[in-house]
Amino acid sequence: MDTGTDRPAPVQPATGIRKPVRLRDVEVNRRRLLRDGLGAGAALTLGAAVRSLPVPEATAAKPRAPHALGFRSLTDEVRLPDVPVDGRVPRWLSGVLLRNGPGLFEIGETKLNHWFDGLAMLHAFAFADGRVSYANRFLQSSAYKAYRREGIMKYSEFGTDPCRAIFSGVSTLPLMGKIPNANVSIEHLAGEFRAHTELPVPVSFDPRSLKTLGVDVPLPNGRMGTAHPHYDPRTRERFSYELELIPPSGLRVIAEKRGNRRELAFIPQDRPGYLHSFGLTRRWVVVFAQPWEFDLATFLGPDSGPIVKSFQWDDSKPSRIMLIDRRAGGVGAEFEVDPAFAFHHINAFDDGDSVVFDVCAHRDASVVDALYLKNLRKPGPKVPQASPRRMTVKPGSSRVRVRELAEGNLELPRTDYASVNGRPYRYAYGVGVRNPRRSGFVDRIAKLDVKRGEQTHWQERGTYPGEPIFVRRPHAKREDDGLLLSVVLDAGRRTSFLLVLDARDMSEIARASVPHHIPFGFHGVHAADA
Ligand code: CO
Repeated sequence: MDTGTDRPAPVQPATGIRKPVRLRDVEVNRRRLLRDGLGAGAALTLGAAVRSLPVPEATAAKPRAPHALGFRSLTDEVRLPDVPVDGRVPRWLSGVLLRNGPGLFEIGETKLNHWFDGLAMLHAFAFADGRVSYANRFLQSSAYKAYRREGIMKYSEFGTDPCRAIFSGVSTLPLMGKIPNANVSIEHLAGEFRAHTELPVPVSFDPRSLKTLGVDVPLPNGRMGTAHPHYDPRTRERFSYELELIPPSGLRVIAEKRGNRRELAFIPQDRPGYLHSFGLTRRWVVVFAQPWEFDLATFLGPDSGPIVKSFQWDDSKPSRIMLIDRRAGGVGAEFEVDPAFAFHHINAFDDGDSVVFDVCAHRDASVVDALYLKNLRKPGPKVPQASPRRMTVKPGSSRVRVRELAEGNLELPRTDYASVNGRPYRYAYGVGVRNPRRSGFVDRIAKLDVKRGEQTHWQERGTYPGEPIFVRRPHAKREDDGLLLSVVLDAGRRTSFLLVLDARDMSEIARASVPHHIPFGFHGVHAADA
């Protein structure tokens, strides 16, 4: 482990991933473990069972792409009531860390193409009196249930279309199931937990048993949604958007309060621009619309393929910043800026008449192609990195001030959301790549100090961390007085562990190791009361 101030590191592609290992189904008798394994020795029992499995030949020798293990399926569902802990997990840490991400990268004979396609698996690390337990379970999406029932891929995913795979060349619209493969994020609102993907239908689940509870509404045709809705506890409003792909196409911004839904704006777009998140200040919804645009003709054409193929980058067009008035509705101001691509907003706030918003900015949408599994697993893949970037706009002026918040790259950004979202803030946390020229994948946890304009890191050789979740210490006064929780792949041991860092200085407090690998996920949430 080392921490230190970041050195200047230009945005460069990553390298070094090797061919994946063919997965072998892991035969652990889950029922027996559940029945017999509820004592203190359960974790050891399971650990022994998993470790005794044959090691695939390709990885028995020193693998050149150790992190490719994070793109390998995890087929087992387990419950480990007592996960061994190195260090001391603070006793005040309660509740559960819930994580979402792909768990299965093959469906029967079909190998999924893109990281975003994998079938959703939920993971739960629960805390009580310094002890840690773990459970994981597949989300019972229509895709997963069809796979279990028929052994085949029946529904379209972002980068894999089963119809094209089975009936190559036959024109067809994406086939969607009733329950989406919601593998991206988790929303915790009013005691409910819902898994999201980029469709406007979240999937409810129980945070302790991880049992899928289902969906409230049917999936509308040709409509995308956000995996990153916002909630303002001050006004008790939830904000989200929908992207209509079929004419009349465009972006709809929505506010909901106590079940009442209000359309704040509908922005017509002939070629709707892809969005993954947005910003929220006290006054505005901030949309950063990028010229990665949906082409209907391609989508309806005979060779449409999965939906990702219908989005096209057009760098002759600017990115657009739109401010939507939270109270009055409508677009209050619009700005143009050089084209850039962002999955994630970090934070946004009003600064007098100006609006400040920070994003993880990519040069263009090529990062989406870089996240194909074939690329991520092969030697020398190129994965463009994002810079933490601040944009400041002022209604009445067309000028956009743009600056980088710090040197180095940052993705999967988090803040102490409840305390600082929509307000001036100092700290954000995320993941990064130490040396984008050499590293195969995300290999460090970053803390961004907006005030000082620098990043500090936690990193350890041979480990690959996921999104860090900030948990505020009770009665904390400093913004960064709390913990960071991150699920880290230990490639050397072929296992994963939950890492607990002190967010103030990025030092390790504890780690709780499970006896199997956890595939790289996207987002999660900590719920103190679950
Ligand atoms: Co996201």
